[in-house]
Amino acid sequence: MTVKEIFDTMEYGPAPESASEALAWLVDRGDSFGHFINGAFTKPGKGFPSKNPANGETLAIISQGTQGDVDAAVKAARAAQGPWAKTSGHARAKYLYAIARLVQKHSRLFAVLETLDNGKPIRESRDIDIPLVARHFYYHAGMAQLMEAELPDAEAIGVCGQVIPWNFPLLMLAWKIAPAIAMGNTVVLKPAEYTSLTALLFAEICQEAGLPHGVVNIVTGDGATGEAIVTHEGIDKVAFTGSTAVGRKIRAATAGQNKVLTLELGGKSPYIVFDDADIDSAIEGLVDAIWFNQGQVCCAGSRLLVHEGIAEDFYARLRARMASLRIGDPLDKCIDVGAIVDPVQLATIKRLVAGHGNEGTVYQAPCAMPAEGCFYPPTLITDLHTSSVLMQEEIFGPVLCATTFRTPDEAVQIANNTRYGLAATLWTENVNLALDVAPKLVAGVVWVNATNLFDAAAGFGGVRESGMGREGGWEGLSAYTKPKSKLKKLSPVETIPEPSTVKVDGLDRTAKLYVGGKQARPDSGYSKPVYSHKGALIGHVGVGSRKDIRNAVEAAHSASKWGKTTGHLRAQILYYIAENLSTRAEEFAKTLDAMQPKSAKHSGKEEVEATISRLFTYAAWADKYDGLAHGVPIRGVALAMKEPVGVIGALCADEAPLLGLISAMAPAIAMGNTCVLVASQPFPLAATDFYQVLDTSDVPAGVVNIITGEHSGLGATLADHMDVDAIWNFSSTDISGDLEHRSAGNLKRTWLNQGHARDWYGPQGEGREFLMQATEVKNIWIPYGE
Ligand code: NAI
Repeated sequence: MTVKEIFDTMEYGPAPESASEALAWLVDRGDSFGHFINGAFTKPGKGFPSKNPANGETLAIISQGTQGDVDAAVKAARAAQGPWAKTSGHARAKYLYAIARLVQKHSRLFAVLETLDNGKPIRESRDIDIPLVARHFYYHAGMAQLMEAELPDAEAIGVCGQVIPWNFPLLMLAWKIAPAIAMGNTVVLKPAEYTSLTALLFAEICQEAGLPHGVVNIVTGDGATGEAIVTHEGIDKVAFTGSTAVGRKIRAATAGQNKVLTLELGGKSPYIVFDDADIDSAIEGLVDAIWFNQGQVCCAGSRLLVHEGIAEDFYARLRARMASLRIGDPLDKCIDVGAIVDPVQLATIKRLVAGHGNEGTVYQAPCAMPAEGCFYPPTLITDLHTSSVLMQEEIFGPVLCATTFRTPDEAVQIANNTRYGLAATLWTENVNLALDVAPKLVAGVVWVNATNLFDAAAGFGGVRESGMGREGGWEGLSAYTKPKSKLKKLSPVETIPEPSTVKVDGLDRTAKLYVGGKQARPDSGYSKPVYSHKGALIGHVGVGSRKDIRNAVEAAHSASKWGKTTGHLRAQILYYIAENLSTRAEEFAKTLDAMQPKSAKHSGKEEVEATISRLFTYAAWADKYDGLAHGVPIRGVALAMKEPVGVIGALCADEAPLLGLISAMAPAIAMGNTCVLVASQPFPLAATDFYQVLDTSDVPAGVVNIITGEHSGLGATLADHMDVDAIWNFSSTDISGDLEHRSAGNLKRTWLNQGHARDWYGPQGEGREFLMQATEVKNIWIPYGE
């Protein structure tokens, strides 16, 4: 198009960014790349092409990482980890700062290379991806600097295996590497096979910054290489971002390997427009929600929910806006929608829309489509049922699926009708409505009158099948640190065997289970004798079964209103439990003394006193474990709200029958969770006596449910259960591996002892670690003004 023609038509003329510097960089490297291991590039091995999806041209050949490459990278990372963690926080901060500066210095090269390799519009890589990468390293330079002062009890986990997707190649790398190395870990990272180039340029930045060898290692390859990394025995922590299907595989494949795991997975995030919204802004927001990065965004606002009364007008205006979107050469600065990352992904999008498009009304923007390359037009599908495949499945393309709602309650109901829980967006000019709805949405991030805002200071991550853990902010650091205090090795606590002659000391009674605020007979109909160390039969307890766990989970769910009570109320109830326990302290102490072996380190009296103190601790915390207001770089705030996890299933400590039970129960209910507790397996009687304390302390029915029986079987049922949100294991039976494997089903959060035992009487038995495990952080972004 000539300038004259542009002038005559007033059409935008193309304004392509030059690719010459990036292409020259590729030529300089011989158009083929090895891995970056121990500070140097290896010779390129057998590989595969990395293509420009906008025109299908091969940009470079990437090496397929072998087991040997992964071994070498893990070895280098292991050797580097100790010295790196021992350097001062300030020294690490300087390296992170240097990386941030170098990313800025080479930002144009990074942006063009990213766009060539991924197909995203240059405007996005230049203005969003790369500045956020630099911001992440700056922010975490600060975290490294502050670590010693602000996290004195935390230390690095060790060697991290990190696997990232192709939608934000360099940004995902930054999200993974910056916090990890700031906290003194070293990493072996695998970029996605479609988009490895900016990770390899980043490796050169590490060299330029003089980063000690082995701190960052980059191994390229496909899923097989990823699997070799995450399952490697030298990896202490796995961090993955990608599809829910692969996340589930990784959960199962790493089960029992004593690894820390965080997963950032898929989503089908709702975008809710109320009838009082600023409609033009809400429509412009949708351009960022679903056509940003061609909709290949885990938190894309891909499910549009519009207030019924404005729906037709809204759709009409949206279609008009869609018609003005420009699709084409991603290097053109005027382009809104670039190329889909790969023909495979394009085929997936086409298959989903073609297979299910007849369920709704399909509108595709009538934009001029490029003659070649991987492109898909912006698409809107209206009139869908909430259960339609298109409303439920992550399409990961520029396809917006829409339905309507009548009331705010219905909007919340539809929004939460998904197996995911990553993000949500809502538009309304009514602050009361916004602040009422935001907490009700099941999501890790909520944007009010804005969408797809990200910052290093605000945690990002999901609930349900969108994964576990957060990246960014203070909470993101916990994924890269562990408490300094060393746990003991786990050893099984044995049940006192049946003596040859049984004395009955008059205390004998058969305890039931405690479900939904009532004592319930075990479904099996069986009970089991409990003997004292003096050989007396001191009682029977019910043998809980799968059905009892299911009933208890149901009861715990029906008590979910507990999560909406105030911290003040929960504090009072915890104090009241403590008070009622103290009036029966002697009786509890007697049972504990009778039940536990002579070798027990603490007397019954000491255990009851420690338990009362623990109840006080969490009564104190119930109204003090506050959220934060993050100073994100917009005119607005990101409110990091602490929310309960939901239903927590806990296998309680065997060795401290009462203190262990309360150490799990008290933080869980203080934070608004309901729970299913499986009492100490060898010494269950203190827990059964505790039912009456709960009955007399105003604890609503179903908030606390207690089951007695075998930890392995009951734990397995809890881990299998799709309606249990988190599982904690403090049992002395070593079943963490089995629980991890089973919890892959609904990707429930796990907090397992992984072969270690706690000192329940000391700081390991209470505190922030428990509170953190009992809460999810939801970041609610609220911009204000211009
Ligand atoms: P993916 O989840 O297969 O790939 C993500 C990363 O995991 C890549 O680096 C890949 O090599 C690696 N990987 C694959 N299998 C692995 C294994 N068994 N162990 C360890 N690492 C493994 O995503 P893919 O195939 O590229 O895309 C498929 C679908 O996943 C997309 O259509 C989209 O719906 C979804 N997706 C979601 C993302 C998100 O952030 N939510 C990101 C990328 C894809």
